[in-house]
Amino acid sequence: MRHLMNPLDFTVEELEKLFDLAADIEANPAKYAHVCAGKKLATCFYEPSTRTRLSFEAAMLNLGGQVLGFSDAASSSAAKGESVSDTIRIVSCYADICAMRHPKEGAPMVAASRSRIPVINAGDGGHQHPTQTLTDLLTIRSLKGKLGGFTIGLCGDLKFGRTVHSLINALIRYPDIHFIFISPPELKVPDYITDMLTEKGISYKEVIRLEDCMPDLDLLYMTRVQKERFFNEEDYVRLKDFYILDKDKLSAAKQDMLVLHPLPRVNEISVEVDDDPRAVYFKQAQYGVYVRMALILTLLEIEV
Ligand code: NCD
Repeated sequence: MRHLMNPLDFTVEELEKLFDLAADIEANPAKYAHVCAGKKLATCFYEPSTRTRLSFEAAMLNLGGQVLGFSDAASSSAAKGESVSDTIRIVSCYADICAMRHPKEGAPMVAASRSRIPVINAGDGGHQHPTQTLTDLLTIRSLKGKLGGFTIGLCGDLKFGRTVHSLINALIRYPDIHFIFISPPELKVPDYITDMLTEKGISYKEVIRLEDCMPDLDLLYMTRVQKERFFNEEDYVRLKDFYILDKDKLSAAKQDMLVLHPLPRVNEISVEVDDDPRAVYFKQAQYGVYVRMALILTLLEIEV
């Protein structure tokens, strides 16, 4: 039985298969409409979510399966002090596969070690968010036609943003990737990541201003300042509007650069950018459903 905790849990070849399956699902949805009949997905969400939880549920419903779960720790027995290990043992009696989001780093991993069903990490604290990364990779592959051979700017909260940590982790396995990390000094990408890039000889640069690198980018990955991970409100207020991507800034970008964002957006992308053909963050959310459908089929070992 396989779980998904980290994007590196799949080899590059396995990811290719997964993305091919996601592409086939996109092209032929009817073929997959009943393949999970009789199967149940549990969503155990101890932290807020719109896209991740609903896209998992939509994915299972699109496959003809059913869903159950909770969207708030306060409405689960966690509020009475139940451990994640006990909860997953119970959920294993009720469902065939589980997607879990938790504010504590490593909680889904603890659950996986006790589980009788596949567990998917749907975001653990500031650590990893592998299914967002699968979504990001599928979006890039579908819209750019390849993974590799580009300069990607990651902008915003690179310290607490788990989507960024997971994406860097996954991208280093593809050829000819150049990273530009765009953040205020307080929200720099953690040292363990830059150390790892240096050790592997992967090219990266750190800049503070978005304007300093815009013309160089093939992809721009914008992120929200992660309010819930700050220790004090004052720092958050000072940093929250550090970056605002608007039409004017985007005018310096390549015509075929793509703007991605895992969403939710707060102020970091002005709504006037939404109509620009380079803004693909809403499409990205749609790819999230296809890739989660492919993931559910893969972990349940259902061949279509
Ligand atoms: C992200 C997350 O939860 O880490 N959202 C998502 O799953 N699409 C990004 C964020 O909350 O800023």
